[in-house]
Amino acid sequence: MPLLRRLASRLALACLLLTPMALNAAQTPTDPWWKHALIYEIYPRSFGDSNGDGIGDLNGITAHLDHLQELGVDAIWIAPMYPSPQIDFGYDIADYESVDPKYGNLADFDRLLKSARQRHIRVILDMVLNHTSDKHAWFVESASSRSNPKADWYVWNDGIDASTPGITPLQKRFAHDGKVPPNNWESVFGGSAWEWVPARKQFYYHRFYVQQPDLNWRNPAVEKAMFDTMRFWLDRGVAGFRLDAISTLFEDPQLRNDPERPGTNDQGDPNLHSLYSDNLPEVHDVIRRLRAMVDTYPDDRVLIGETYTPDVAELDKWYGGERRDELQLPMNMLVGFGWQARFDANWFRTTLESSQQVHGQPLLVFDNHDNPRSIDRFGDGSHDVQRAKVIATVLLTSRAAALTYYGAPIGMATATPKRREDVQDPIGITGWPREKGRDGERTPMQWTPGPQAGFSSNTHTWLPVTPDYTTVNVQTEDADPESLLHWYRQLVALRRDNPALRDGAMQFLARDNAQVLVYRREGAKPVLVMMNFSGSAQAIDGKWQEGAVTTLAASDASLRKLTSLQGVQLPPYAAWVVTPAH
Ligand code: GLC
Repeated sequence: MPLLRRLASRLALACLLLTPMALNAAQTPTDPWWKHALIYEIYPRSFGDSNGDGIGDLNGITAHLDHLQELGVDAIWIAPMYPSPQIDFGYDIADYESVDPKYGNLADFDRLLKSARQRHIRVILDMVLNHTSDKHAWFVESASSRSNPKADWYVWNDGIDASTPGITPLQKRFAHDGKVPPNNWESVFGGSAWEWVPARKQFYYHRFYVQQPDLNWRNPAVEKAMFDTMRFWLDRGVAGFRLDAISTLFEDPQLRNDPERPGTNDQGDPNLHSLYSDNLPEVHDVIRRLRAMVDTYPDDRVLIGETYTPDVAELDKWYGGERRDELQLPMNMLVGFGWQARFDANWFRTTLESSQQVHGQPLLVFDNHDNPRSIDRFGDGSHDVQRAKVIATVLLTSRAAALTYYGAPIGMATATPKRREDVQDPIGITGWPREKGRDGERTPMQWTPGPQAGFSSNTHTWLPVTPDYTTVNVQTEDADPESLLHWYRQLVALRRDNPALRDGAMQFLARDNAQVLVYRREGAKPVLVMMNFSGSAQAIDGKWQEGAVTTLAASDASLRKLTSLQGVQLPPYAAWVVTPAH
């Protein structure tokens, strides 16, 4: 980064530091802000369109900050808004130190940062370290010859002879000039992970789209360049990063074949176990150095990881285990996205309980821009909002930081395209009909019952507005005290001020009733959280229910006037949060 620019952004930071962010009511000075945070993911294409081009933008986010403040959001994580050819809608970055003109410019970004700060909302950026766009100047240079200064910035390989015994059909399909890719590795998005470049007569590796070449993290110059880009934003005042696809930075130096598993994936390629292309131990050294760099900044900057792990033990490694010197908040995807995840009290009891076994604060996630929305995954088509209130209760009353996604607090549904020709996400085009892509969870935010749901003045939005916007929108739900939005607001306010909900251990009760999930958050004044996962009323018995109680929140109005748990039947899908009356 040129010296003048670096100095200018240090100055910007100094100015911001002169107006320190106020502490929340119950926040003690020793608590890092992120520990109890509600972090809200924004997909910038879909949140608010300020200039009427049908695509969301930064000014569109700024325009809606009041809503986020009212919800009680502590930080927004903005999915990539850097210049990008938008093949993977921003996850293919062409310049790490600017803003895509579709979304605005750096001045808009600074205004967003400032307006958010005035509302006690921090801004977290998405940082894609694994790969760049193939249009990034680094890759253009790297691909131009074998001898340029950036020749070793990406993962290049000569390939092997096409007549080599044992090569797979997939390797054969990608043959060029008598060579095939050096191994069987596949792109997550379909086909071989290796692409031929005639100018170098070599293949490069891409774990994701062919337009997303993987950086070579064994080259120290790459680490330096990427850390510099992060400093650029930290100097500007961002509160931290969500690290994209972080487990995939390194590949096996011997390029061994990944073991095959039975069957084919949604793109029609053989299933592989990414033993040699994912989760290599070297990544943890990078994360430790990154953490040390980020820790040189004031104000508890945070590192959040996109960490899909098979179990809690693997998740704990991302904290740095006992040393806790890696990510502060690796995402726990086990509860919300585990392959067996279902609307079932036992599922949540087991996974929430084991999720507490990490050396740090858990971060629960039920929704993001890559998966069908939780309201559909956990809904049954007839009690979706009631079930969504139960999921919100789990998210917001567990001992954890909470991550939500635009649209989730109002119950926006997944709107998967019905025809291949309507699909925007490339994997939905190549994978149709098995894989219909991720458009369904990226539709425009529903603000009002008016035209385009208040998202844009343009009738052609980049994805269609989901027809249910006439009832599922912020304005309508704002006016209804029994709405999902009000339930969210209520729980967020509760968790902010209640010491037991903030830090109390989770004690799981009523284990013998498979229909209910009950836990107590311990403390001088404990809090009891009861949820009925079934469609029939459930008795809640047990010694723990003695004594008078006060309702803190109840999704069913009939519970609000009760002052004791004795003989109570929890209505279908009800969530009830109480505390001892004295
Ligand atoms: C992450 C992102 C996803 C993206 C991929 C490649 O999984 O969440 O949207 O396609 O990384 O960057």
